[in-house]
Amino acid sequence: MLFDLIKERKSVREYLDKDIPMEDLKKIMTAGYLAPSWMNSQPWKFILVKNQETKNLLCELAGHQPHVKDANALVVCVADKNGWSKEEFGEVLAARGIGESGREKIFNIPMFYPPLLGDSIVLMRSVEQVTYAVSYMMLQAKELGVDSCIIGALSNEATVVKPEIMEKVNKALNLKEGQVLITVITLGYAKEETITNKQRKDFNNVVHFETIGNELK
Ligand SMILES: Cc1cc2nc3c(=O)[nH]c(=O)nc-3n(C[C@H](O)[C@H](O)[C@H](O)COP(=O)(O)O)c2cc1C
Repeated sequence: MLFDLIKERKSVREYLDKDIPMEDLKKIMTAGYLAPSWMNSQPWKFILVKNQETKNLLCELAGHQPHVKDANALVVCVADKNGWSKEEFGEVLAARGIGESGREKIFNIPMFYPPLLGDSIVLMRSVEQVTYAVSYMMLQAKELGVDSCIIGALSNEATVVKPEIMEKVNKALNLKEGQVLITVITLGYAKEETITNKQRKDFNNVVHFETIGNELK
């Protein structure tokens, strides 16, 4: 049951030395590939990393968080600003049956076409899309018995704390101009004893019925 997976999923930061079958890794990647996005724009790339050298580089990028190098596999989640170009986004729209004049209309409406609002909005909307796919991949992983942790504390275009290591990582992953590494998902089988309890704010502090302050009973 999906709800059970949602309840059971926890961030796992210590893993057994055990390989995840490639078939399962492909399923996890496919879950990201099939995630929804704004007008099906898919402004993203997902890179499966098994290579230890690349894991070590990404670990450095993430302030030496050990689970990045110790995970059995990593999924590097990239926001691809190029996905909003008139060519690339236009192709997606055309595949939906939107003709040239319809596409031109969309390209002139800021609500539909983020590049009209500037580079930081393009980045924000790209990151927004990537996060849905991250959730899909983590839940698919959980269904396969694979644990995970999101790594968002890393050097990238939004934080730019370590430009030299960013450059090395971009080269190792063959990232192009406009492709921004946003998140790494660590994957592996949990060392059960290291899993902590789920902690959340009070339910009624977060979830409301009709208006803020009104409880959902
Ligand atoms: C955007 C984002 C960035 C995160 N970055 C990190 C990170 O860099 N390192 C880490 O160990 N956990 C990271 N986490 C995991 C959170 O700490 C974790 O989801 C939160 O404490 C709730 O715990 P749970 O996932 O076990 O329910 C991140 C989570 C999100 C959503």
